[in-house]
Amino acid sequence: MTLFRARVLDAPDDPFAGGVLRSDEDAGLLVVDGTIRERGDFTSLRAGHPGEEVVDLRAGVLLPGLVDTHVHYPQVRIIGALGMPLLEWLERCALPEECRLADLGYARAVASEFVGGLVSAGTTTALVFGSHFAPAVDALFEEVARVGLRVTAGLVVSDRGLPEPLLTDADRAYDEAVALAARWHGVGRARYAVTPRFSYSASDEVLDACAAVLTDVPGSRFTTHVNENPAEVAAVTRLFVGAEHYVGTYDRHGLVGKSSVLAHNVHPTDGELAVLGGRGAAVAHCPSSNSALGSGLFPLRGHVDHGVRVALGSDVGAGTGFSLFKEGLQAYFMQALLGPEGLPLTAAHLLHLATRSGALALGLGDEVGDLGAGRSFDAVWVRPLADDPLDVGLRNAGSPDDALAKIFALGGDSDVAGVWVAGERIKPGRRAP
Ligand code: GUN
Ligand code: ZN
Repeated sequence: MTLFRARVLDAPDDPFAGGVLRSDEDAGLLVVDGTIRERGDFTSLRAGHPGEEVVDLRAGVLLPGLVDTHVHYPQVRIIGALGMPLLEWLERCALPEECRLADLGYARAVASEFVGGLVSAGTTTALVFGSHFAPAVDALFEEVARVGLRVTAGLVVSDRGLPEPLLTDADRAYDEAVALAARWHGVGRARYAVTPRFSYSASDEVLDACAAVLTDVPGSRFTTHVNENPAEVAAVTRLFVGAEHYVGTYDRHGLVGKSSVLAHNVHPTDGELAVLGGRGAAVAHCPSSNSALGSGLFPLRGHVDHGVRVALGSDVGAGTGFSLFKEGLQAYFMQALLGPEGLPLTAAHLLHLATRSGALALGLGDEVGDLGAGRSFDAVWVRPLADDPLDVGLRNAGSPDDALAKIFALGGDSDVAGVWVAGERIKPGRRAP
């Protein structure tokens, strides 16, 4: 049993539905077997538990562990290739690198760098796009288990439109996915995600195989890309002659539902938003990627108006880093740049998008996403170096919302001084608390 003492900020209640930031200046969190048993004012909680060990984190701000709902494991080494739109970037940067994961030694090194990137940024839960090679996906799950992260991931499948080494067929896609799920789904904190890359590279036969895996692996999740870039959307329209729209290419296989997270959706029609909202699917908004590839300005208002759940994704390696503080800030910028069509965001929206919304999108709402009693102690301790601009900002913040806005504006990996998953510290930080 451990009693954590900290200034805690979290956003359990949806600010898009009137929720506000929850702030406790001097909170006590009693953690038993990795779960928050009680939360309250520190002094009163301490009175009831005078003998427990206290971890004093008052020198910084404690937030819920960040949740990245869209990030590519094989792309950690190619972050930062600027100047290309989606299809050119895939052809010239992403896909040649993904071919290299056929080599298991290479994949293991990349897995270690990738998981290190998540932890450094304070990401404790992620929905990860795996590799096209099953042994490389094993390497990812092995590394994630070693470090202790909460990861949902799977084999990426495609049977057309990509370099030959990345292609499979429907039978092999099914067999390899089910075998991977048998090894990893529900083992520790790992879960399996059925992952066709996008309709551009998947035939109806492969999408059918994906639907079969989703049925045959109870509790598995679904993830893919949709409506990211106009040239991609046009190509998918040409490939799927009978489909109503891009979302429909997945929906007609039963792949759009409460377990689905579709990345990007920058260019949806109202009909597509209605399908997504009606099915209870979630969208991973990846603003730094959308900016870097020039994909477009995300229509957040349309999503909210249609009841489509939205969370944040870094989309590494098109995205420009692992930090969800940066993604939150970019999401804010994008809505501001949309002018009257944008949805003005507060710091509470950004924290909710980066934590609670992500947990709900991944079906982990009972376990993580905020620091209330009953949740796992998955947490990030933000503690900037003395006198750096974030430290100055936090000392001079006029309110908890103001302090949180400064974290999104100024916070980066070097300010993440501690990371816990289920009460276990996985990033020791530069300084002992
Ligand atoms: N669409 C299909 N594959 C990818 C990818 O790797 N990154 C992004 N941003 N979009 C994709
Ligand atoms: Zn992506």
